[in-house]
Amino acid sequence: MILREAETMKSHTNQKLFRHFFFFMILTGTLTSSVAQSSDETHPWMNPSLSPDDRAAMVVKEMTLDEKITLLHGTGQKKLSPVSPQAAQSNGGAGYVVGIPRLGIPAIQMADAAYGVTKSGENGRYSTALPADLGAAASWDLDAAYEYGALIGRELRAQGYNMTLGGGMNLTREPRNGRTFEYMGEDPLLAGKMVGAVMRGEQAQHVIGDLKHYAVNDQESGRNAVNVNIDQRAARESDLLAFEVALQDSNAAAVMCSYNRVNGDFACENKYLLNEVLKKDWGFKGFVVSDWTATHSTAKASAAGLDQEEPGFVFYGADLKKAVEAGKVPMAEVDDHVRRVLWAMFASGVIDDPPQKGVVEVGRGLEIAQRIEEQSAVLLKNDGQLPLDPAGIRSIAVIGPHADVGMISGAGSAQVDPPGGNAIMPPGQGQTHWQDKIWFPTSPLKAIRAKVPAAQVQFASGTDAAAAAALAKSAEVAIIFAYQWETEDIDLADLSLPEHQDDLIAKVAAANPHTVVVLETGSPVTMPWADQAGAILEAWYGGSRGAEAVVNILFGDVNPSAKLPVTFPRSEADLPHPTIVKPGPESVANFDVPDGWKRVAAGLPAFQVTYDEGTKVGYKWYDAENKTVLFPFGYGLSYTTYSYSNLKVTPGKNPRVSFTVTNTGKRSGAEIAEVYASLPAAAAEPPKQLVGWSKIKLDAGESKEVTIEVDRKYLSIFSVEQNGWQLVPGEYTFLVGGSSRDLPLKETVSLN
Ligand code: BGC
Repeated sequence: MILREAETMKSHTNQKLFRHFFFFMILTGTLTSSVAQSSDETHPWMNPSLSPDDRAAMVVKEMTLDEKITLLHGTGQKKLSPVSPQAAQSNGGAGYVVGIPRLGIPAIQMADAAYGVTKSGENGRYSTALPADLGAAASWDLDAAYEYGALIGRELRAQGYNMTLGGGMNLTREPRNGRTFEYMGEDPLLAGKMVGAVMRGEQAQHVIGDLKHYAVNDQESGRNAVNVNIDQRAARESDLLAFEVALQDSNAAAVMCSYNRVNGDFACENKYLLNEVLKKDWGFKGFVVSDWTATHSTAKASAAGLDQEEPGFVFYGADLKKAVEAGKVPMAEVDDHVRRVLWAMFASGVIDDPPQKGVVEVGRGLEIAQRIEEQSAVLLKNDGQLPLDPAGIRSIAVIGPHADVGMISGAGSAQVDPPGGNAIMPPGQGQTHWQDKIWFPTSPLKAIRAKVPAAQVQFASGTDAAAAAALAKSAEVAIIFAYQWETEDIDLADLSLPEHQDDLIAKVAAANPHTVVVLETGSPVTMPWADQAGAILEAWYGGSRGAEAVVNILFGDVNPSAKLPVTFPRSEADLPHPTIVKPGPESVANFDVPDGWKRVAAGLPAFQVTYDEGTKVGYKWYDAENKTVLFPFGYGLSYTTYSYSNLKVTPGKNPRVSFTVTNTGKRSGAEIAEVYASLPAAAAEPPKQLVGWSKIKLDAGESKEVTIEVDRKYLSIFSVEQNGWQLVPGEYTFLVGGSSRDLPLKETVSLN
């Protein structure tokens, strides 16, 4: 159940209030036909004490075929599909599904909300931008992830939305993927747990949750056409495992199928992915919504388990009706699709507790965004220069593109609109457009000046590297803010910083040994200057309060605790696929030409990408290949130090791993302690895999004993023959420490 006890009580109260309000409206004659109706006699499914399953089944029985089909598609989007006149009633989000007022079923108003609610600018509203999802993953903090989701859920509702399109969780199989910032890293357990927590937070606010993009949509190049070839066992142990974990933890009410093909079939008409794995094996009760224009058929998609087409009704409108009438799509199948949509609405609480437009709590949002960024920025290198001493410092050179006004954010459908527009544009001219580079008005220069008002703080954009180096030379410390911008739909050409920033950093670091590099990136980057820099802080896309959070870390008000959710390789040559496979022109979607969407709907010719590294994603690949990396998965420094001791592994169904962590330094901090397991050789798995972690707060000198219960599933392999998880009897080595490549504790036990 998604509703927790307290929330259920709240929704009962709301339900009562709603009914009183409803009768008041009838008496006063102010009820309009678009208002959801409710009465115990005629709408028994409005009784919140019934189960969502029963309520959904009761409604389906009352529905006409036209009403059923209404719930199975959106109302269209310019350029992507025909648009119905009903689209005018949309709240302005990416998707709108018309409701059935006769039965008290409200419309579904969907908004993209990866790191905040999108399109608020054009609706004259405000949304908080949280740190990018990948950044949030670096906190390894499930409570922070819940809070991240809860904030998004509250802001969705305040803007009149009852469904999120967030929940991105494709694994970083390809770090040049332009959407890496929207996802939660390379490990299925970390990504699954973190997205699961985000989704719990969102659904607790009574919005329909969503996990996406299901599945193996790991590159943007040719995403509408690519056929991903992946071995079934490898898929279940990597990309699909992440979804399995998130679903189990969150009971997300919707899953978005992706653009790409998987082993021959488009994901949105892939029987194995949808009916067999998601619905049967995992017991998913909600609905599958297609990514925007990712539906390619009627009967095939319906039989495979696609429940709802978005954004329009190319296949699931009149064509679906015809197919049902001609007996090509059984009514029972349509009923199942509809029941799932209704189940999601009842289970998430959007019927009992519909959103009311209201004012977003701006201050609270900013405070949360800052706190999460403070837990998400990863200290990668520190030669002792950080933290800076605010009392002692006299001069600072702040360098970097637009570091005087803002910090970069991730683009595409996830783009959150900054208040007042793009910080690098004149006021009033900075509305966001698809794939603009948007800088949020969180100014590193201002935040530094505010922190050290007595120091001389000067700025150089870095356009002239020699001038920037000269400024750096004249100051005690140089702080460079370097960025790498990412957007949906376009993969990165490579992992290096754009706009000659590598050269800029090298010149500045050569001019001043006290150079601190702050990275604002959505993916790992290569760092040819890493040896020269005194300190490196990976800030990701920092969100609405990025600068304040980063400056708190630089000056020691906050002790960094985050750890990398992705490996930083030394170069692209070390990746499983040194170059991204690109499509030919015939396989590229173009929605700008007339009828471009029709070509996409018909299914662009496939091109092949083969993930023969299989389950070896991220660190599993570098471990298996014995490759050195720039910064490993799970790595991150602190201003204090920690030691590990006393490992004890108690075998059992779910083995228990106990150990002691001690803060051996002089500051309090939080350590993310990681537990990996090496499976017996017979399992034929990569050298090790993450099986658990714990984030422990420790004062200087303090020790704590930690016990982590490891779910047997994370120690098992996926047997294709048995279609299930199996533990291979044998010797299991548990490794514990503060980074995937620094695991001082080790114990081997027999498990069966
Ligand atoms: C993206 C989805 C998004 C949808 C609606 C698609 O292009 O892939 O992630 O939710 O658009 O905006």
